[in-house]
Amino acid sequence: MSTIKMTVNGQEIETSGGQTILEVVHDQGLDTIPTLCHSPELKPYGSCFLCVVEVEGRPNLVPSCATRVMDGMKVETKNTRIKARLLVEHLGVFIVALLKVNVRNARIAFNNPRVPSTFPATCCCTAYPPACARL
Ligand code: FES
Repeated sequence: MSTIKMTVNGQEIETSGGQTILEVVHDQGLDTIPTLCHSPELKPYGSCFLCVVEVEGRPNLVPSCATRVMDGMKVETKNTRIKARLLVEHLGVFIVALLKVNVRNARIAFNNPRVPSTFPATCCCTAYPPACARL
């Protein structure tokens, strides 16, 4: 493999070609890019976009786990564009997780009279029967 020069977060580095941005950044300890669908034992899949980075000259953010480094490449792993993208893309997952926790807590409170509850004494069935988990 040939040696290439690139910049990560303003820091010039040398690395061998053929690696992905994620591999270079992690191997050289430059940052901790989060991953979800990436596994070092498998071919890059690049589907979750949790590992996105900004590459100068590219209009869109790219998945670092599925993008090979190139000579002269300039990469940013943290900036407001990346944070905004991650927030928007994963906000739905966060809200669903939060709702699931609240629904689970509500079920525990309704089904176990020993659990102190802040919920109304009457069941929600009177308001909307199809939504009640107790029926
Ligand atoms: S870790 Fe999922 S796209 Fe990179």
